[in-house]
Amino acid sequence: MPENRMAELQEQDKRIQENLNVIKNRLVVFSGKGGVGKSTVAVNLAYTLIQRKMQIGLLDADITGPNIPQMVGASGQPEMFGEHQLLPQVKDKLRVMSIAPMIPQDQPVIWRGPLRSGTISQFLADVFWDELDILIADLPPGTGDEVLTVSQKMLPRIAIIVTTPQEVSLLDCRRAVNMAKKLNIPKIGVVENMSGLICPHCGEEIDFFGSGGGEEMAKSMEVSFLGRIPMEKISRECGDAGTPVVLKYPESKTARAFTLIAQNVIELL
Ligand SMILES: Nc1ncnc2c1ncn2[C@@H]1O[C@H](COP(=O)(O)OP(=O)(O)O)[C@@H](O)[C@H]1O
Ligand SMILES: [Mg+2]
Repeated sequence: MPENRMAELQEQDKRIQENLNVIKNRLVVFSGKGGVGKSTVAVNLAYTLIQRKMQIGLLDADITGPNIPQMVGASGQPEMFGEHQLLPQVKDKLRVMSIAPMIPQDQPVIWRGPLRSGTISQFLADVFWDELDILIADLPPGTGDEVLTVSQKMLPRIAIIVTTPQEVSLLDCRRAVNMAKKLNIPKIGVVENMSGLICPHCGEEIDFFGSGGGEEMAKSMEVSFLGRIPMEKISRECGDAGTPVVLKYPESKTARAFTLIAQNVIELL
């Protein structure tokens, strides 16, 4: 690597440390598999913590599938702050940073790993989050570059690993737990999402994907189990509409599940 590039990166790492210094806690959400509900968990956990009067930032670190602005209903562009910094978008008190508003809609982000990681590093160095209780990073699925970059640069205190109850998801979840262990993330917690389906007609719970596998796995791998979230139609509808379910339906089973998970997260911290 050329010497000046090396110096640039060192300078950036210094800026990241300074920038994140005013943030009390950092947390990452990832999974072994796509579509298991990472972004849903990141968004609804963020708002549940905001309901407990905490200042929360959410970094969309899924560069090729940035869904957070859509899921929280944030629109517009992030603004500049001073000469070098970007201000996160704010939606219902949540501070959000994503690449989504900066790329044309429907266009794929065809970037190799280093470019994706570079963008995340830039967000960590140059976004003015201000003082936060927790910065949450929503990661892409799997155990690739972004997970490495975020873990090494953001130094998260907690990794939340989301799984669904099926054996194929649990298998990948074990890999993700082991990755978090290898990266020396101090606390690891598993969330079992889509655990039981709430019938939209009668409200009864149907054992659709099964349930309990996440808790058993967490126990056997000696990590914390943070809770289970049912599969509920309103949850998906709210995600699509950009009105997070815990805000729109605070009495729902899903919202109650997030209250428990938030408590467990606070205890882990
Ligand atoms: N518990 C749930 N109940 C209903 N729909 C859910 C639930 N969890 C996730 N979904 C839906 O499943 C889809 C994938 O979830 P998402 O959070 O985007 O997953 P990931 O970030 O892991 O790819 C979204 O449409 C989301 O609304
Ligand atoms: Mg996602």
